[in-house]
Amino acid sequence: MDDPYAPARNALAGEGLGGADGGTAASDAADPAVLAARLDDADPLSGFADRYHVPDGVLYMDGNSLGPASDAALASLDRVVDEWRDLLIAGWTDADPPWFEVGERLGDALAPLVGADPDEVVVGNSITVNLHTLVGTFLDELLAGNAPDREGFERADGTWAPDGEPDIDPAVLVNELDFPSDHYAIRAQLRQRGIDPDEKLRIVPSRDGRTIDPRDVEAALDAHDDVGIVWMPTALYRSGQLFDVERIAAAAHEAGAYVGFDAAHSAGAVPHAFDEAGVDFAVWCTYKYLNAGPGSIGALYVAERHHGLTPALAGWWGHEKATQFEMNMTYTPADSAGAWQIGTPPLFAAAPLEGSLELLREAGIDRLREKSLALTDFLIALVDDRLPEVAVGTPRGHAARGGHVALEHPDAERLSEALKDRGVVVDFRPPNVVRVCPAAPYTAFADVLEVVDEIEAILESGAHEAYATNDGGVT
Ligand SMILES: Cc1ncc(COP(=O)(O)O)c(C=O)c1O
Repeated sequence: MDDPYAPARNALAGEGLGGADGGTAASDAADPAVLAARLDDADPLSGFADRYHVPDGVLYMDGNSLGPASDAALASLDRVVDEWRDLLIAGWTDADPPWFEVGERLGDALAPLVGADPDEVVVGNSITVNLHTLVGTFLDELLAGNAPDREGFERADGTWAPDGEPDIDPAVLVNELDFPSDHYAIRAQLRQRGIDPDEKLRIVPSRDGRTIDPRDVEAALDAHDDVGIVWMPTALYRSGQLFDVERIAAAAHEAGAYVGFDAAHSAGAVPHAFDEAGVDFAVWCTYKYLNAGPGSIGALYVAERHHGLTPALAGWWGHEKATQFEMNMTYTPADSAGAWQIGTPPLFAAAPLEGSLELLREAGIDRLREKSLALTDFLIALVDDRLPEVAVGTPRGHAARGGHVALEHPDAERLSEALKDRGVVVDFRPPNVVRVCPAAPYTAFADVLEVVDEIEAILESGAHEAYATNDGGVT
């Protein structure tokens, strides 16, 4: 079959788009409305939109913050509510499937999306809590003298003794465009081990304020011998830059450091191959591209070679399952990523994930990614063509782009407010970014065109100038 999304890619690659007047008579393809209709007609995923709940009249471009409800997610939530009413405590063992294994079961379902074996992924806690426990765990390993033990990497010989100094404090390498919660948590974990975060949180700078150049990560590893953990996002939350996970992992291991990723802005939108890339650990949420609802349960990955370690934030739900209810005072970690669970899983925060994952599995992560790239190709081509005062802050290459596009404008905050009032839900990220996320499962190419039409109309009329700025509220 021909690639149904090729026209979007071609539009960005150079064929261009006609103006709002419909382009030239010589080429229907140059008319964005014709092109959008053609792409929607050929889209093998177009039927999925009906299975998600987006109110009539709303163009929902904020699925990178909070995905919408789907019939499937509501059904799996309803089922657990019914089980609670009917089974009470027996639900832990007698529900179908039993609640007791919810973390492992949903971890198994998530594993293919990140290229992992089923027992390397579990759901539990939240991103920030999972980051605390995982960074803490690997700092403890380093302080115990254990660096990654990986064949083929000269210096990664399993001994943490940079420069021959066995008692040097490990540093964590991060970047200046990270989501702030990650830095807060890592600083706290360093502090709790008596390590000064002002010295040992090493921050890779951005050259352009939008992206992180992988060469700068490599240069930081060359410049500092004490880096024990490299912590990077798979995709930056503001610009949407997608990182080369394999390259960063190889550089970290060559330097004798562990490597972990915050996959919040790619899980469910971009296929990953964590095992193949040699990632040591990762965290992500399920409320963005995984569409499991506000505050839904977090997820984490720990490579099999690390199973058996004692988590920094140990709790009874991470205990070896077969003996959890023997109530021993000593903790025996589960021999899987399940060990990094902490306490009783919040069933209602986990249940919708089951249904929403069924939809994503049916659509297929590779097809979702293809459509997502075509939607963002189309969006970028339209912005280039129609909005000269708006800059695209997201890298243009497919390999460096996640699921959303950062539109930069000096009045971004007021523009995003004006859009919301017109039914276009986007979000603003300081200082100058409107994030637009045409998520593949429920967005049509015609929706993308309408969003650009609205932005153009607002900027041309100056309608956004009537809005006040918000000073720190939730956007
Ligand atoms: C990239 C990234 N990391 C971490 C977090 C924090 O996640 P949580 O509030 O679930 O701990 C977020 C929240 O949006 C995020 O986008």
